[in-house]
Amino acid sequence: MDIGIESIAFYVPHYFLDMRKLAEARGVDAEKHVVGLGQEKMAVPPPGEDVVTMAANAAERALETVDRDQVEMVVFATESSVDQSKAAGIYVHALLGLQPHCRVFETKQACYAATAGLQAAAALIARRPKMKALIVAADVARYGLGTPGEPTQGAGAVAMVVSADPKVLVLEPESGTYTEDVMDFWRPNSRDEALVDGKYSVRVYLRALAAAWKQYSEESGREFTDIDRFCYHLPFTTMAEKAHTQLAKVSGHRDRSPEQRQRDIADSLVYNRIVGNTYAASLYIGLTSLLENAQEDLTGKRVSLFSYGSGCVAEFFSGVVPAGYRSALHAAAHREMLDTRVELSYDEYVDFYLRYLPKDPENWEFPAYETGSFRLRAIRDYKRIYERAT
Ligand code: COA
Repeated sequence: MDIGIESIAFYVPHYFLDMRKLAEARGVDAEKHVVGLGQEKMAVPPPGEDVVTMAANAAERALETVDRDQVEMVVFATESSVDQSKAAGIYVHALLGLQPHCRVFETKQACYAATAGLQAAAALIARRPKMKALIVAADVARYGLGTPGEPTQGAGAVAMVVSADPKVLVLEPESGTYTEDVMDFWRPNSRDEALVDGKYSVRVYLRALAAAWKQYSEESGREFTDIDRFCYHLPFTTMAEKAHTQLAKVSGHRDRSPEQRQRDIADSLVYNRIVGNTYAASLYIGLTSLLENAQEDLTGKRVSLFSYGSGCVAEFFSGVVPAGYRSALHAAAHREMLDTRVELSYDEYVDFYLRYLPKDPENWEFPAYETGSFRLRAIRDYKRIYERAT
């Protein structure tokens, strides 16, 4: 029985900042952002847009062609959680009117959390082949203003329907995993912004990749050249170049030409370059980017996925693209969403950043900005009130 991704869709906020404008405001060379980090634009969420609204928007699209009554599990992966107790997926479950006989829970392990959900769903579906699982990953990547992490911000959500009818990607069972206790990136409960040892996080990412690949290749018997396209966790797009160079090296393909390496990864980077980091969602927005932007027919091609969550947990696994995958994608809707975004000035970006959410509000009404189909209207008696945007 094939198990994998039946439908995949993503959502990003309606507003973005051009990375050249951020560079100008910070007095750095724009080429550092555009070439060095490989980022052109970053998505900026307005007040009233949080992980729940973003996830609900992505999920509504992913479920368009799916029988919702078969969804028996909703996993919400995030490191931007809105509550320490209640799973954000319960709000999504309600906003989308999913049937009540459903397991709903939240997963956390930095940017790795969606992969945990995806693999758990695949294992459960092997036992209950008629069920479908909805995996949503949503995050607001937020660092301090003026810090080195600032140009690697972003926001967005991805939603995947996982089932025994995988129209988009058939998952292969082999995987390589790696865990190590490191402090490369973390966010204490008292803080809104992450703390990060950025250069160290890049080094640990590459070390985790080598270790996860080793186990994957030993378990599967596959070589680097058995993989047609490579997707990596994308805190910024040049991270994929570093990762791919590392993988070529540790797998004995150091001589792979720069052009060939670019071809291996380029289509997976298109969306991230104009959205920015979306933490748990970023690997899967990268997969969507590959499937929707590759000119070549990917039918029968093997795609690898490398998931990395600081702290750290990593996993290297793969899937094969089934025939007819293009008709299961939401490429036109994604392009329209990206093309109709509104550019912010630097001052507007800072304003959104500072007003995003007041500290510990008991009661708060959010002004209405442009969002997708859902928005956070208010907080009343510490309860979040979501609604369909008009
Ligand atoms: N033109 C072209 N490239 C330029 C440049 C210019 N004028 N100025 C700098 N660069 C290049 C640098 O050479 C570097 O490339 P390299 O890594 O290939 O050497 C890149 O731009 C970034 O510059 P750097 O000086 O390293 O940036 P930084 O000290 O501000 O830190 C991060 C970069 C990624 C460490 C920082 O943004 C960060 O901490 N981000 C959050 C954590 C993160 O994303 N971790 C990733 C693993 S999960």
